[in-house]
Amino acid sequence: LRIGIFDSGIGGLTVFHAIRRAMPSHDLLYLGDTARIPYGTRSPLTVQRYSFRVASWLYDQGVDALVIACNTATTHALDGLAAAGERVGLPVFGVIEPGVEAALAASRGGGIGVIGTPGTITGAAYQNALRRRRPDLPVYGVACPLFVSLVEEGWLRGEVPRLVAETYLGHLRGKIETLILGCTHYPLLREVIGEVLPGVSLVDSAESTAHALGDRFPAAPTPMGQRGTTRFAVTDNVERFQQVGALFLGEVPSPVSWVDLPAAHAPFEPPGGEP
Ligand code: DGL
Repeated sequence: LRIGIFDSGIGGLTVFHAIRRAMPSHDLLYLGDTARIPYGTRSPLTVQRYSFRVASWLYDQGVDALVIACNTATTHALDGLAAAGERVGLPVFGVIEPGVEAALAASRGGGIGVIGTPGTITGAAYQNALRRRRPDLPVYGVACPLFVSLVEEGWLRGEVPRLVAETYLGHLRGKIETLILGCTHYPLLREVIGEVLPGVSLVDSAESTAHALGDRFPAAPTPMGQRGTTRFAVTDNVERFQQVGALFLGEVPSPVSWVDLPAAHAPFEPPGGEP
């Protein structure tokens, strides 16, 4: 199988990495829309248009499944992309449902926090999915926009990230027992988040998304454990993607090519209107 994975930029490499480990024999194609990052502060309609454009390109590459590795794009565009994909038999996966499943599996009945970009938190897809399944649990959503810049600067430990984490999350101490890291970048800040919220289980949707995909597409046995191919594409600045991407992937992503996305096209016709 050829699996297309996309994100607004670099962070989706955490999801790519988990899929690679869970499904090593499949071919993986990753697109980072680095020319349009961040998605997290943009309007829902703009994120939908960007996502439909990326999906059109991946569809042209002949992928057999599409994974939205970005939480913000999953929040705003999963429903539209899944409906379009269904018309042509292309399954579309997001990161939110698997993250919610993992949080509920870890839950012992206490409060659940969700942190993400402003778009993810105001879009409330995580909070709604949690409340639908467990209306009895208190759910707290907090936007932590500065976390993305900290991670991209490589400021993962020390005073500054700790102070930022304390400012965003200190008020959740004692109220939650599980925290969903609802943004591709946040797993890299696990250590400081854990210091601010000791004893809270931190859930990251990358692993659970990879498992959901693995359940749907069990790997056929391959001769001599043959591995699938991996390829990366970005819409801007290959060098920066490789440099910052190494933080997320644990190795320099390669090979990476620059692509100019086509206009969105069938079956991924973008919604009209003004953002
Ligand atoms: N990938 C985005 C997410 O998971 C974070 C970066 C952005 O704002 O584009 O929501």
